Amino acid sequence: MCGIIGCVGRDDTVETLLNGLSNLEYRGYDSAGLAIGGGNLEVTKKQGELENLRAELDNNESSVSGTVGIGHTRWSTHGPPSDRNSHPHTDSDNRVSVVHNGIIENYQSIRDELTTEGITFTSDTDSEVVPHLIAGYLDDGLNPQAAFEKAVERIEGSYALAVIIEGTDAIFAVRNDSPLVVGAGDSAYFLGSDVPAFLDYTRDVVYLDNGEFAILRPDGWTISNQEGDNVTKNPKTVEWTAEQTGKSGYSHFMLKEINEQPTSLRQCISGRVDELKDAVVVEELDHLSHVDRVQFVACGTSYHAALYGAELLRDRDINSKAYLASEYATAPAPVTKATLVVGVTQSGETADTLSALREAQNRGAQTLALTNVVGSTAARECDHVLYIRAGPEIGVAATKTFSSQLVTLNLLVEHLARGRGRSTTNYELITALRNLPNQVQHVLDESNAQEVVDEYVGDNAFFFIGRGLNFPVALEGALKFKEITYEHAEGFAAGELKHGPLALVTANTPIFAVVTGDDERAQKTIGNIKEVEARDAPVVLITDGETEAERYADHVLEIPDSHQRVSPMLANVQLQLVAYHMADRFGRDIDKPRNLAKSVTVE
Ligand code: F6R
Repeated sequence: MCGIIGCVGRDDTVETLLNGLSNLEYRGYDSAGLAIGGGNLEVTKKQGELENLRAELDNNESSVSGTVGIGHTRWSTHGPPSDRNSHPHTDSDNRVSVVHNGIIENYQSIRDELTTEGITFTSDTDSEVVPHLIAGYLDDGLNPQAAFEKAVERIEGSYALAVIIEGTDAIFAVRNDSPLVVGAGDSAYFLGSDVPAFLDYTRDVVYLDNGEFAILRPDGWTISNQEGDNVTKNPKTVEWTAEQTGKSGYSHFMLKEINEQPTSLRQCISGRVDELKDAVVVEELDHLSHVDRVQFVACGTSYHAALYGAELLRDRDINSKAYLASEYATAPAPVTKATLVVGVTQSGETADTLSALREAQNRGAQTLALTNVVGSTAARECDHVLYIRAGPEIGVAATKTFSSQLVTLNLLVEHLARGRGRSTTNYELITALRNLPNQVQHVLDESNAQEVVDEYVGDNAFFFIGRGLNFPVALEGALKFKEITYEHAEGFAAGELKHGPLALVTANTPIFAVVTGDDERAQKTIGNIKEVEARDAPVVLITDGETEAERYADHVLEIPDSHQRVSPMLANVQLQLVAYHMADRFGRDIDKPRNLAKSVTVE
């Protein structure tokens, strides 16, 4: 995700902001910028490393200074990385400067409206509507605070905003579904998307809740709610070590990223589902030509997402298949121009996937990159691109990106199904996707995975089973487990156990079985659970409790009830925690497992 820093009341504002931005670098970014205010606003921003911004500031003839400022590290979602798309964004007269994290869902309609009024936009971003809106309200005679609040009333979506306005020595901020925290120093006040942004200056922090506004001035800070009432919040002192700060206090990036899923999923869905029309709205796919079959190419975790996507499409009567990219690259499946080949790739840089996509493109198929990284090779080379908007992932083991891939695949599938005249998206699915972030939060809050894995430390091997959409989740559970615990783990289609793997099953091979819903598949999986139980294998059941499966389980990891397509995503969160806690128990190098790399750029 992008990073925000703001400070009021320091003489070395530029250095403080740069220091904050450098402390946010670990989050990943593609450009950085800052704005200094108090009197006139001075904005400096550059694509690329923070060093580029420093160099630009050094070149700046009029030395930039002031006692109030905001800074930003950008991770692109709307518009490629570039100087002009970097934050802060300003209005046409350079009176208002804004940094924004999140996604403004209704930006296009606001942009159209403002363009009609004669405003020229200078970036491709959703964020730029905010300074123009505020400037408009200032022109209407509103004071800076009222103009800011009025602009916030206009926007929908997820946002953490920090704004400075010409002639005002204050920072105006608000949060909705995107984190923002105030740092309460002795004589200076700070704002950050994350505590490390200002930890060099104060450890006393106040977290903003959704809908809360903050104003930071040289003589203090205030917080108010949507109704305009002041909210009293006492700062808490964070005790994190330097090493923990980048991880927001979590012991590993992987655990932080698992816990970020409610936010990253909200960001993934934001503006893409329309509950009123029971429809998905994915502008990126508007230019797809006729598609009569879909081939997915992907590796590792992304391949598991692809298996899930292919199953969804088949369920919607659209011909589809998932291929391991490394196999497809040397033996491509037949394609026509009505074949859509989708490269599912978090990084957009995986050599096997790029090679498979190029092969498909050369043979005349349409290609689509389903990726997390704006401007990645896959995004640039494919005919179309659909971003999963998970934010940067630092841990080598993919977690939040897998969840966002599954949600994005639902959007793609519904878009294609509608294009093929299949029945429209149902209300239950849209509602379930909307509820997913809160349900993931519930799983994170309530999970007993840590206690359960303690029971199985030292066992011989760990097997994961599931059917239908739970099969890719079982494969993913096993992959996550093996890559960070270094223990032997395998995922199987539940019905396949009896065709061989059952020979491995003993009292020392725990079976993690995913059973959701209560259909024929769930009942058949219960039959498979009985098979392993009869061989004395301990059973850990991941379930929504719809069946009687719990009777055959030694331990249960519960998930909330949801749509049959969404339940596997909730089960996956429990399996992420299973893998994490077991690896932690062994003291493994969880964020950088041996022999593995985040981006695999060789075939
Ligand atoms: C496992 C993992 C890998 C990647 C694979 C493909 O946790 O992260 O299996 O999924 O290397 O990478 P991307 O998605 O970047 O193409």
